[in-house]
Amino acid sequence: MCGIVGYVGRAPVVEALLDALGRLEYRGYDSAGVAVLNSQGLEVRKRVGKIRELAATLRRRPITGHLGVGHSRWATHGEPTERNAHPHVDCTGKLAVVHNGIIENYGPLKERLIAKGHKFASQTDTEVIVHLVEEFAKRHPIPEAFRLALKELRGSYAVCLIAEQDAKRLFGAKNGSPLIVGIGQHESFFASDVPAILSRTRRVVYLNDLEVVELTAEGPKLTTLEGKPVRRNPTTVDWDITAARKGGYPHFMLKEIHEQPEAIEQTLFNRLDPAKGRIVFDRRSKRFLDGLSPSEQFIIIACGTAYHAGLVGEYMLEELARVPVDVDLASEFRYRGASLNRHTTVIAVTQSGETADTLAGIRLAKAQGAKVLAVCNVMGSSIAREADAVLYTHAGPEIAVASTKAYTSQVTALALLTLYLAKQRRHVPPAQWRKLVDGLASLPRLIDQALASEPAVKAIAAKYAAARNFYYLGRRYNFPSALEGALKLKEVCPVIHAEGYAAGEMKHGPISLIRKGWPVVFVATASPVYEKVISNIEEVRARKGECIVIASEGDAAIKRHADSLITVPRTEEFLSPVVVAVPLQLFAYYVADANGADIDQPPNLAKSVTVE
Ligand code: F6R
Repeated sequence: MCGIVGYVGRAPVVEALLDALGRLEYRGYDSAGVAVLNSQGLEVRKRVGKIRELAATLRRRPITGHLGVGHSRWATHGEPTERNAHPHVDCTGKLAVVHNGIIENYGPLKERLIAKGHKFASQTDTEVIVHLVEEFAKRHPIPEAFRLALKELRGSYAVCLIAEQDAKRLFGAKNGSPLIVGIGQHESFFASDVPAILSRTRRVVYLNDLEVVELTAEGPKLTTLEGKPVRRNPTTVDWDITAARKGGYPHFMLKEIHEQPEAIEQTLFNRLDPAKGRIVFDRRSKRFLDGLSPSEQFIIIACGTAYHAGLVGEYMLEELARVPVDVDLASEFRYRGASLNRHTTVIAVTQSGETADTLAGIRLAKAQGAKVLAVCNVMGSSIAREADAVLYTHAGPEIAVASTKAYTSQVTALALLTLYLAKQRRHVPPAQWRKLVDGLASLPRLIDQALASEPAVKAIAAKYAAARNFYYLGRRYNFPSALEGALKLKEVCPVIHAEGYAAGEMKHGPISLIRKGWPVVFVATASPVYEKVISNIEEVRARKGECIVIASEGDAAIKRHADSLITVPRTEEFLSPVVVAVPLQLFAYYVADANGADIDQPPNLAKSVTVE
């Protein structure tokens, strides 16, 4: 996953590719590479690290030519190494591909290709594509071999191919992942995102799923997978570069909120098999989890938003897997003198994998003989490297400082872990198990539905944007949601003070501040404590506070308790924090926007806190 570029034209290809890759750097990546066709044949250069390091390699070992592809990779499946970096080549070294997306059936395809004698060099799913094309190219011309290979793929892809056998053009196709064609003056481009090419052309052809392109310097020829011609006129992009980077959204935060269905799909990919009712983990994680003692003690450590995900994890693991769990702020854990032993598993939840307190926490845990499992988004990060096993969240790069998709994918990963342990320990009766698994499988769709609340949330945010104090209250699984909602608001709108509490705590102090017009956001979705939350709402209303209530769809009775109502799709209770997070994030976003806040980079905050 990350940036794809392709170039054919009169300019030196390496310069064009590096320029385009550089313009996608803001998306984050861990390795990069290019493949070029010239009179020597196919030449490839790759580097772990930054584009400037790839550029340095290309200065030392230059390649000339006028046709090539490039890629910046943000590792999802397979570590960030040179071998796993794109482009990937076939056994003959004559074909090269770059790819974004996930090939869901790469396992069986790889086995089939290995049986036919293909040699694989990387751990990626991408590599099957180039070997498939190689296989078909034994009997078909390249355009046909490419289409036949694409027909075998299940999953999502944006893919570009270059072939020594057909050296005057590039090939590209998409299904689910973005790929565009740029048309310049005697030069053409492929790119996964508009900003890559905006400095050279504004004439763009947006590809639809399952369309294939043959691209020369004079422009694209589009066909279906069956080879039928497709006509599409170019459109002119009128975004400036800043808007283009955000995919047309005004802020990265809003873009990332909208990316959540896809992010969660990635977290679940290859791990949840709803048909068989199974949770499957990679070999290392499975060995780790299967080796735990029946009396294992779990301690979740994390900071900020990741800590809130950890709190949701505590509810899940204790209720469904029946394992004892403590949750600690990593900054407290490292100084509280906890006594750990070899039957303790510390679960470190972290987007960046670099947070100083969380890293220090796992080092301390290991020094005392405990085991460490990381729930982490960034492959190859310090925490991912030092942990005994890692459940990657695969949420993709998160650029806004405020965490959104990383949070919901952390909760989803903890849900997978919970169901795995619950099954292993036989704690859930089969009928309930089916419901939990089906609920988890439907999460991407439910988040999509929750996003439909955006216009309503925006209107409610406008109504309360002038308020300067907010409470957020919830119970059980949505007590952490209350903490997270409040954190999101004060983080992105630093003129507002927001506080999250367990709703049952209100009478023990916070209620003293409630007065006319004081806004309180309640999470009152379906749960065994629903009636108790309603009582808390009424306590606020009795003091003339304003209740903004997030409730489950179809709850007709809630209307008379709410001054403003937001509904979210019904879910199994343990997954409700994921769905509820969407309106909480949108509310924070629109309140901050109405206050003119610097949403993506709030003052005093950094994306990765690498100091104590
Ligand atoms: C809040 C936020 C922070 C991080 C925290 C931990 O929106 O982003 O609170 O959650 O700094 O960071 P990671 O997850 O990288 O360890």
